Amino acid sequence: MITKFNHVAIVVPDLNDAKKKYKEVLGAKVSEICDYIQHGVSVVFIELENTKIELMHPYGENSPISKFLENNKNGSIHHICIEVKDIKKSIDKLKKNGVRILGDETPKIGAHNKPVIFLHPKDFYGTLIELEQE
Ligand code: CO
Repeated sequence: MITKFNHVAIVVPDLNDAKKKYKEVLGAKVSEICDYIQHGVSVVFIELENTKIELMHPYGENSPISKFLENNKNGSIHHICIEVKDIKKSIDKLKKNGVRILGDETPKIGAHNKPVIFLHPKDFYGTLIELEQE
């Protein structure tokens, strides 16, 4: 079912600060800050040779990551994203195996314009997993 690692997402308390640190201290190639109004997050994309890191910060009043930042004031890893070939088939298999899918169990269009779902962290050893259609 899972194929490639896509990205790790880290929630940070200050996006400009984090962007600067990844660029200047780690020498990373960083994007400009992108606001995803409909997702309630602002994101900086870091391209590595073999994968990506996404630095995230809440956007707007009802951001889905506000609570997370409140509980992790210095920032923390929020989720990992792994690709799957067929997200519909993946959902069927996950449900058959008792894995809880967050929300209404239907794929949503994620930040990369591809269908994604999120798996309940309690069903995967405390890690929030995003599955993205290849
Ligand atoms: Co993600």
